[in-house]
Amino acid sequence: MSRFWIALIATVLSAPALQPVVGQLLPFGGAREYVQDLRERRAAVMTALGASSALILWSAPRRVYSTDTDYEYRQESNLLYLTGLEEEAVTLVLVPDAAGPREFLFVRAKDPFFELWNGSILSPEDVAVKTGVTQVFPQRGTEALDAFFQGFLTGESSASASAAAAAGVAASPARGALRLSVLQASESASVDPATARQLAWVRETAASRAETTVASASGLLERQRRVKTPYEQRVMRRAVEIAAEAHVEGMRVARPGRWEYEVEAAIEGWFLKSGAMSWGYPSIVGSGPNATILHYTRSTRQMRAGDLLLVDAGANFQGLTGDITRTYPVNGRFTDAQREIYDIVLEALNAGILAAKPGGTVEAITQAVRVAIGRGLLRVGLVTDPAAVTGRSAQIDLWFPHSPVHGIGIDVHESLGVLVPGSTFVVEPGIYVRPDTLARLASDPAQAELARTLSPAVERFRDIGVRIEDSLLMTPGGPEIMSYRAPKRVDELERVVGTGR
Ligand code: GLY
Ligand code: MN
Ligand code: MN
Repeated sequence: MSRFWIALIATVLSAPALQPVVGQLLPFGGAREYVQDLRERRAAVMTALGASSALILWSAPRRVYSTDTDYEYRQESNLLYLTGLEEEAVTLVLVPDAAGPREFLFVRAKDPFFELWNGSILSPEDVAVKTGVTQVFPQRGTEALDAFFQGFLTGESSASASAAAAAGVAASPARGALRLSVLQASESASVDPATARQLAWVRETAASRAETTVASASGLLERQRRVKTPYEQRVMRRAVEIAAEAHVEGMRVARPGRWEYEVEAAIEGWFLKSGAMSWGYPSIVGSGPNATILHYTRSTRQMRAGDLLLVDAGANFQGLTGDITRTYPVNGRFTDAQREIYDIVLEALNAGILAAKPGGTVEAITQAVRVAIGRGLLRVGLVTDPAAVTGRSAQIDLWFPHSPVHGIGIDVHESLGVLVPGSTFVVEPGIYVRPDTLARLASDPAQAELARTLSPAVERFRDIGVRIEDSLLMTPGGPEIMSYRAPKRVDELERVVGTGR
């Protein structure tokens, strides 16, 4: 074999993109495509940022669960979106009009003691392979980032300055206008003390540097994240598929005498064995009256024949989460009263999905859902206002107190603009007949008469809670129901629930 071929093979074998990063799950759809997608996300953000600006994103802090034990680490969503890094102590800096490199990452330096307890820290080379960012600076604290900023904001560095300082100077606009986009603590969950110090320092430096302003990055990132890339769409479909299968598993396990936590365990066990990292939000598994608690998470009640069970659960698969709710009778047969409410909610869901069109709005879906709910509530006597059929009656809010639409993605609740191909969102109508809602009404003298009129219907539907929620992807041809594998028709539910198969 010629020396040329040996050299070529050696080059290919050592090409970083071909080497799996030890201990990391391979990205769904392939590492190369994922890295390319990350590069394109950052490029799009830099185009939106414009000239004379920089974006600085810090990773989320650890959160203490108890004494020296932390919650499982959760990366700041925007940093995850732009780097794919799940590690803590990471800072990303993007400088759109830098003459040389425009992307910089500051990461935790190798530390054997830390690695003994917490597992290996990615080397700068690993970080570069995973993210596509070539300028990676390891640091023990914040020294590399501090040096970078010093160089970046002043355009000057001493002869003995570090590589990070030199990179900062090279990327610096030196003088003239500069807009630093950051997330405030309130926009990024919260920040740890080191990040807070740096944020304060950036602000102080900005105040002392001519023509320098600090702006919020949240609007720009929110707008870009609304439209999922083809790569994200594929991961999203898989996240929702896992959740839908998990719901079926929960349906099979549910039966009178079992406990809510048994259904929760079946669902979350399915998430994990499907390769999902965790839930995307705490699972809601509420039976009987618990089905009327919007965010019930205790799962401690024993289920009885005649109960409805409301399950709202979604998996976090490779950083993206779907959001699905199904409601069904634990003994596999709806009562007449349960069926009446269920049919209204299902009709409202279908009306909402029909109203979802490319170029359409959240308001159009909301309005279609409210019209269907309003009509149904008037029919069964839970409201008296004839305007309920227009969806515009405040009486609807008594039993349907939440919005039926929100975006989904890295966060279970994301902002949603006009629906375009690539928008991912939910439609989630619900009716919750809580006796305390009637009591609240009755305690207001102006509403006492209404409360008396509604009371027979409230008695008939007492403690019934129904929500049905689908996760959708807008395509050029209309919405794709990603959660289609989770049954929602009455006949399907009555067949699947409690089968143990
Ligand atoms: N899982 C929370 C929601 O449905 O919005
Ligand atoms: Mn939802
Ligand atoms: Mn939900």
